Amino acid sequence: MARISLDFDRILGRVDPRIFGAFVEHEGRCIYGGIVEEGSPVADSAGFRTDVRKAIEDLQVPVLRWPGGNFVSAYHWQDGIGPKDARPQRFDPAWGAVESNRFGTDEFMTYCELLGAEPYVCLNMGTGTLEEAMAWVEYCNGDLDTYWANRRRHNGRQEPYAVRYWGLGNELWGEFQVGHLSVERYVEKAKQWALALRRVDPTIQLVACGHNGWSDWDRLVIDELVPYVDFHSVHIYTGSDDYWSNVLLPHQVDRALRASRAMIDRARYVADVRHPVHVVYDEWNVWFPTREDRRRDKIVAERHTLSDALAVATYLNIFVRHCDTLRMANLAQLVNVLAPIVTDDSRVLLQAIYHPLRLASTYTLEFALDVAVDCDRIEHADTPDANRMTHRIADLGPFDVLDVAATSDASRSRLVLNVVNRRPDAPVEATIDLGSAQVRGEMTARVITADSPLTTNSFDHPEAVSVSERKVTVTGSR
Ligand code: AHR
Repeated sequence: MARISLDFDRILGRVDPRIFGAFVEHEGRCIYGGIVEEGSPVADSAGFRTDVRKAIEDLQVPVLRWPGGNFVSAYHWQDGIGPKDARPQRFDPAWGAVESNRFGTDEFMTYCELLGAEPYVCLNMGTGTLEEAMAWVEYCNGDLDTYWANRRRHNGRQEPYAVRYWGLGNELWGEFQVGHLSVERYVEKAKQWALALRRVDPTIQLVACGHNGWSDWDRLVIDELVPYVDFHSVHIYTGSDDYWSNVLLPHQVDRALRASRAMIDRARYVADVRHPVHVVYDEWNVWFPTREDRRRDKIVAERHTLSDALAVATYLNIFVRHCDTLRMANLAQLVNVLAPIVTDDSRVLLQAIYHPLRLASTYTLEFALDVAVDCDRIEHADTPDANRMTHRIADLGPFDVLDVAATSDASRSRLVLNVVNRRPDAPVEATIDLGSAQVRGEMTARVITADSPLTTNSFDHPEAVSVSERKVTVTGSR
């Protein structure tokens, strides 16, 4: 018998709703064929697919990162404004695709407003210039009688968009990135850009381009940029065809968040930086490249399994437990590419990972509670696919078979427990011990499960992995 013990007085911190953010990139059918499909019977007059919009609205995404990803490092935003038919069609060197530019800044901002999400724009630090980046901030946020603010007004938008979050480039540490930089050149350039961009709008919040959270790149970026930025970003994707690796690899993020947090604390102390700097995990998901369906979409169309849903639920629990450090996270990506939402010409499919995302964003409460879990533990040896640095986690074990996060509201009258049973072959019976708190009445249990860890949803079987709900009557403290 496992035991989950809670104490409403042991509060870890306030959960930032921005951990339920997402990311959309001009890649595959994420934007075109996902978010927009001009002329489609399921699109509105602006070309936005209404079925996709409804599925995103149900996820209550609070912040949306755009336009890349790798795509942004060769993207010139000025190609994507003004009359759509006059916009240039360009070659996209990131994904070897043709970019029509019919979805640009004004379309993205409109979409964010429809969703009630805050925009987070990543800047082109590959082929882009500082002047271009400053002009983008002015176009979005300028309220004076100036050229770029007036271009925005001319394009139909009077009020500034007031974009708060700006990313200082994407994954510039990688040679695959257009305009790849050494860390020394990156920090010098990012410092220069940060100072100049804040002259255009001193209220913006800047995100430094980190790596996996513990690399030398992260260390140097944190040491040099903490005085100039508000966030340090981390990107980690995990995924394996070994069941235990797949569901346990998200714990790598424990390492990333602990390491980044320690480095940020140190850098702030040494440089006497008074403003807070937090971590944004602005690309995360289960991504298992050998499973990609490249025939259909050319790039990264994942078919997510129940086991991936368990991994995603574990990620979300980790985000809650690290609420003090992690202030934003962006699922990569939202539609069609590695995504919880998949489209064909006229239908939307909710993949297995959609369900933990929706439950977490809908039900997670304001304060994270410390939870003690007493259950079976798994010793996990690194598998042969552990050659990638992000796939070595044996040192972090043993791992609890039940992964648990708990949140409550300010009045302590509500409790939400997220429990991930990672045993693939059996239920785990558990006692939930509420200490001195008492439950009166009914609790609701929402359960995500399926026939096998490998079960996926498909257009033929859209609810093979789904959520069932039942009421449980509880009295007392257990
Ligand atoms: O999300 C897919 C890609 O993964 C992004 O473009 C890039 O930033 C990351 O490597």
